[in-house]
Amino acid sequence: MPSVVKNATLLFLGRAAVRGHALLGDPGARLFAMSSAQDPYPAYESVRRRGPVVTSRLGLHITASHELCDSLLRDPGFGPLPAGELSPVDSVAYTGARRLVNPVEESFLVLNPPDHTRLRRLVSPWFTPRGLRDQVATVERVVEEYLDEVADQPTFDLVGDFAARVPIQVIADLLGVPDADHAAFARWGGAVVNALDGVRTLTEMRALHSGLREFEAFLDDLIAHRRRHPGDDVVSRLVAHEDLRREDLIATTELLLVAGFETTVNLIGNSVLAVLAHPEVRERLLDDPGHAEAVVEETLRLDPPVQYTVRVPFQTTEVAGTRISRGTPIMLLLAGANRDPAVFTDPHRFRPGRPNGREHLAFSAGIHYCLGANLARVEGAAALRGLFRRFPDLRAAGRVRRRASRVIRGPERFPVGTGAAEHRPIVEIIS
Ligand code: HEM
Repeated sequence: MPSVVKNATLLFLGRAAVRGHALLGDPGARLFAMSSAQDPYPAYESVRRRGPVVTSRLGLHITASHELCDSLLRDPGFGPLPAGELSPVDSVAYTGARRLVNPVEESFLVLNPPDHTRLRRLVSPWFTPRGLRDQVATVERVVEEYLDEVADQPTFDLVGDFAARVPIQVIADLLGVPDADHAAFARWGGAVVNALDGVRTLTEMRALHSGLREFEAFLDDLIAHRRRHPGDDVVSRLVAHEDLRREDLIATTELLLVAGFETTVNLIGNSVLAVLAHPEVRERLLDDPGHAEAVVEETLRLDPPVQYTVRVPFQTTEVAGTRISRGTPIMLLLAGANRDPAVFTDPHRFRPGRPNGREHLAFSAGIHYCLGANLARVEGAAALRGLFRRFPDLRAAGRVRRRASRVIRGPERFPVGTGAAEHRPIVEIIS
């Protein structure tokens, strides 16, 4: 069978099976069948009610337990899902094209030691507290710059005009990308991140391929430029390592770019949604801009940009009484763990400044703990402080559209008004 037809058939059968199992109450299928516009949290609660580990007919296990998520993420007997398992479609067979580097399939995000250790170490210096100190001023400058651009507009799109631009500019400056083309970055990042849900349609497959192809061509040019004109940036330092393979160099740069903005944009969007829905939090933030840090932390707990991750055991093992065969995925619902009543009192309430507010797993745990966690916190707090200082009466000015992903959660389009019209605390959300 020609590969395109075979892949289309596989996609169709895969979707039909998921829907069928979901109707029969399978917990994994219910998660996959959910639309991104639906509130996912009740589904996570129903996983928790069934026990610490539940087994899905889709060939995977799921947990929403904070204790289990935390311990499996730190367990050297488990690692990320190997490349190629995210999608039912063989992407090389689909295009017949040369392999494209996909950061979520081959960067150190999904590698095991010793490769993980070697590659992570190369870029870690920029994310130490000292490295971060140098970036705080850049973040504040970028926030003010983009707020200036929307200052005279009665309404703007919080995501496209502000929340996406700040982290793209910050990570582009860090990597030494001259004149970041925000629209192209957002397109490439979107293609990579949407594929995290598993590529479900041929249109998505095409979008992924063209995104990766353009992204790779852009990085090849950037790398060649930095070889000729080295600067004080991450890419210049990476190209100086002559033993680094081209694929590792590309995958690492792509990972930093995509992880650097595709998550933080949602942190900013989700925290503004939370503030607009809680007038008392807005009041406190206006009185004390320093409260922004607690608001960001509580957003990370209650409505995290990365909802879940996956691990597989290297050997058949038992987890909380359930046998998990070697290589079988276990879905770790980070967003579910963050509402585990065993750890957080009144877990569904938005309560910035709660005593153990940093015990969430929004940034994962163990060796893959988010490298950019503190940069993301700095960006989120600076964005919130800047926004509400500039627009104390910020309000929703239209329907919020959520991004079409179950892994990554946040608004894709979020019209806001800057005037003093009456607040609308309830934000309407459509798919
Ligand atoms: C709110 C924003 C962010 C969230 C919620 C987030 C979340 C995460 C999560 C959950 C992981 C681990 C996934 C797993 O264990 O399977 C991760 C890894 C990573 N993140 Fe972030 N991230 C954010 C921002 C950033 C930023 C700003 C950067 C860089 C500039 C970054 C760079 C990375 C890198 C390089 C990894 C891979 C770490 C490793 O595998 O060793 N992230 N992030």
